[in-house]
Amino acid sequence: MDRLTLRRPDDWHLHLRDGAMMRAVLPYTARHFARAIVMPNLVPPVVTGRDAAEYRDRILSAKPVGSRFRPLMTLYLTEETEVRDLRAAAEIGLIAAVKLYPAGATTNSASGVRDFARVRRVLENMAQIGLPLLVHGEVADPDVDIFDREAVFIDRVLDPIRRDIPGLRVVMEHITTAGAADYVRDGGADLAATITAHHLVINRNHILAGGIRPHYYCLPVAKRESHRRALVDAATSGAAPFFLGTDSAPHTDAAKLQPCGCAGCFTAPNTLSILAEVFDTMGALDRLESFASLNGPAFYRLPANDDTVTLSRGEPVAFPDRIETADGPVTVFDPGMPLHWRVEG
Ligand code: NCD
Ligand code: ZN
Repeated sequence: MDRLTLRRPDDWHLHLRDGAMMRAVLPYTARHFARAIVMPNLVPPVVTGRDAAEYRDRILSAKPVGSRFRPLMTLYLTEETEVRDLRAAAEIGLIAAVKLYPAGATTNSASGVRDFARVRRVLENMAQIGLPLLVHGEVADPDVDIFDREAVFIDRVLDPIRRDIPGLRVVMEHITTAGAADYVRDGGADLAATITAHHLVINRNHILAGGIRPHYYCLPVAKRESHRRALVDAATSGAAPFFLGTDSAPHTDAAKLQPCGCAGCFTAPNTLSILAEVFDTMGALDRLESFASLNGPAFYRLPANDDTVTLSRGEPVAFPDRIETADGPVTVFDPGMPLHWRVEG
C-alpha cells in the first residue's frame, strides 16, 4: 500500500505555549490536526474558566488564516480549584477536560496537587458530569527512581482515586510502560491512555548511550526497549482505550541545551509521518485511523472529523532540523530513521 486516506486526526495532548512560541508552533499542528487538547501548564497556569477563555481566544487569533483547527481547552487542577467555576466552564463547552499534575512532576507543575483529599470534591463533580481527568502519571517523590515513577503512580495514586470515585473518567497521558498499557487495557470504559509518537520510536538508550542527547529527554522519560515494544503493540492494536496524544512540547534549544535542561520533544511537524512508518512496519496501517482519528473522539464523546488526510509513501521525507521562533530556535524531534510517509496537501 502506498496511499492511505484517513479521517483527519486529532491530537489529544498538546503544549502550544503562548505568545511568540505559540505563533511559531501552532501552524504545524493546525496543518495536520483538526482539534487538540491544549495543556494548561503555562506560567502562570490556566486554572479558571476565565483563564481558559482568554487562552482559547489567543490561540484562535494566532491560528493560520483559513485554518479550521479547534483548540479544546483544559483547566489545571489545583487544591484551590472551585467546583462552581469548573462546572460552569464544562457546561458551556469551554473546557473538554481537567489536567492533574502531581506537584513537581514535570515542566511548570509547581501549582499541582500535593494532597489528593483536597481535590476530592472536584473529582466527584467531574465524575457526575462525565468530565475527563487527564493525569500526568508520575509521582514526584524524590525517593522513587525516575524510571519507576509511572508504575508507582498507578499503585499509589491512580488506582486509589479510581476506587474512591467510581465513574470518574480518566486518561492516563503519554504512557511509557508495559504496566500502564496493561492497566489501561483492563481498566474498563472509563479509562483510556494517550501515547506519543516519540515513545513509539525511542527507548532510554537513545537518551543516554554513546553521549547524552537532551532532545530525547521528555517526561515521562523513555523506558527500556521492552516497554517501547509494548507501547507499539498497544497503539497498533487499534484497541479503543489507546489514542494519539503527541505531547509535542516545544522548548528553545537554549532551554534544552544547558546543565539542567527542560523536558519535552517537539514532534508536531513529523508525528503523522512517524506513526505511519511505525504502523507500516508492524503491518498495521489499517489500524492507524483508529489510533489517530477514531478512538480519541469516541472517548471524549465527540464526533470523529468529517474531512480526511491522505498520506503517501515514497522517498524519505525531509523535515527541518529546527524551526525559528522569536524566542530562539526549537529543534524538531529526530526519529533516527527514514520516514517514507508524507501528508499530502
Ligand atoms: C511537558 C512540557 O514541556 O510542558 N514536557 C514533557 O517532557 N512532556 C510537560 C509534560 O507533559 O510533562
Ligand atoms: Zn505534556
